Amino acid sequence: MPNGVGAFFFEECDSTNARAAAFAKAGEQGPVWVIAGAQSAGRGRRGRAWTSETGNLYASLMFRPSIRAQDMAALPFIVALAVRDTFVALGAPEDQVQCKWPNDILIGGRKASGVLIESSARHGGLLDYVIIGIGMNLVHFPDDAAFGATSLRHATGLAVSVKDAVSVLAEKLYRRIDAWKVDDFKAVADEWTRYSWGLGQKRELRTHDETFTATLLGLSDDGALIARLDDGSEKRLYAGDVFPVDRAD
Ligand code: BTN
Repeated sequence: MPNGVGAFFFEECDSTNARAAAFAKAGEQGPVWVIAGAQSAGRGRRGRAWTSETGNLYASLMFRPSIRAQDMAALPFIVALAVRDTFVALGAPEDQVQCKWPNDILIGGRKASGVLIESSARHGGLLDYVIIGIGMNLVHFPDDAAFGATSLRHATGLAVSVKDAVSVLAEKLYRRIDAWKVDDFKAVADEWTRYSWGLGQKRELRTHDETFTATLLGLSDDGALIARLDDGSEKRLYAGDVFPVDRAD
């Protein structure tokens, strides 16, 4: 772990995000990683489950930045870039590792990592704590996921231990968070855009209440995905998922 960063390891727990939140509520100051060999109730974005067999990486960083909730726009993209850095440092070919909005990481066009960020605000708007939960498919991947999945081993043949992956991830994320300037979203957005999947192209967008196709244009200053609909109007998405266009339509 980088200097000053703590870590707890569970062979198995319900969810490293849930454990990290419990530590925060019990007064743990962080920054601290909670790492598990397996999870019995792994949580994905938008209420989904995250299948968590032994062999993949399940880790959550809890820390207490002195910022307001509205200053968090860059964080999902900073985390995605750190996960991308990690896969590349572990040997994945640089040109195959891409970022998919909001913070998935793809290898060879298939999802190899997901990120779930949760936070709690204090009275007055400052954040109490932030939890960055990261799942990296080192070995296993679901074969029935809505967006095609893969693992580092399946995509590249590389066999990497959880321990090695965690130490690279902790270092990469530490550097990225250390370099984070809350009022300079553009630098992060530009770098994320360089590695992004689907920008400038037509994609299917799914939110909690609609599915539509649109051309992805880029990120707004507050982290939304800007998309141009088929009627020429622009829409900003703050939550949702991006898929290839279903060619059977
Ligand atoms: C997604 O839906 O893509 C996000 C998945 C995030 C999974 C990770 S695994 C470690 C941490 N603990 C959880 O329960 N979820 C996150």
